[in-house]
Amino acid sequence: MLNSNCQVVLAENVVAIVDITMNFFITKERSMNSNELKYFSEHELFSLPDATALPFTYLFKCMLVKIRRKLWGRFADKNTRFVWTINTVSDVDGPAANVRNYIERQTIRSLLRDIKGQDLLRSACEIGCGYGRLTMVLKEFAKNVSGFEREKHLVDLAQRLLPDIKFYQVDGINNIDPNKVGFFDLVMVCAVLQHLTDEYCRSVISTMKKLTPDGYILIIEKTEAISVTENVTKGNEFISRARPVELYEEWMKPYALIKKKERVLENTYFNKHPGTCMLFKAP
Ligand SMILES: C[S@@+](CC[C@H](N)C(=O)[O-])C[C@H]1O[C@@H](n2cnc3c(N)ncnc32)[C@H](O)[C@@H]1O
Repeated sequence: MLNSNCQVVLAENVVAIVDITMNFFITKERSMNSNELKYFSEHELFSLPDATALPFTYLFKCMLVKIRRKLWGRFADKNTRFVWTINTVSDVDGPAANVRNYIERQTIRSLLRDIKGQDLLRSACEIGCGYGRLTMVLKEFAKNVSGFEREKHLVDLAQRLLPDIKFYQVDGINNIDPNKVGFFDLVMVCAVLQHLTDEYCRSVISTMKKLTPDGYILIIEKTEAISVTENVTKGNEFISRARPVELYEEWMKPYALIKKKERVLENTYFNKHPGTCMLFKAP
């Protein structure tokens, strides 16, 4: 998946698709009975997605997309870009996702608690907000909250789920104009810069500074080189990279790093050092 360059990213690999399809046929009910359980190992029971909740048409399309990718897709999709979906913005689901979201929101709360003071901030936003998994926490700290995201399907979902927040579809997160969307007291970005080329990342940082000339910027990104891709220059393909805190400090100047905290995810996640939360303040 790391090098995939398809318009639609629906499934991780053929094996998973076959597994979940079989799972679908074997278990027509939403859960298994005690006789059926014995046919599955613990690994299968606890790590495969529950395909019984997925419609057959979806699974069938997943397989067609996989076949297309393996055959003519690699030529037909040459000029396309990597697309983020609900399954990839956060790379876990089910119980693990539930725990991850709780921990991440708690971390953000603990970092923002001090800057709020008695009153709510006037405005806050998240850049590259996906479907608003973390944007919603900002509502506890600011009166008006916005989210900026490139993928239209994620913006539409976020807007339906969180009507009190204004979500904008933007073609690039490096050219959000404060004259059109307003200025913010706080700008947050999480797990976005780590997927960008250096050049694009620096232009996003410059945009964030323009959006909050006297406020705060919270950056939550990968800072240790674990599970990174070789590709760091082809922006239309999947990139995963780490930049040390010192580099972000340098690029964020004259904004000063005022707080730092380790990014913590659920205990079962393979990467025990997924990143650092860095809170910057305008000069
Ligand atoms: C790993 S996801 C993180 C989403 C969200 N911040 C979260 O933590 O749930 C990265 C997000 O950044 C968005 N993104 C990446 N590059 C972008 C770009 N150039 N313009 C707008 N959004 C972008 C993706 O669409 C995706 O939703």
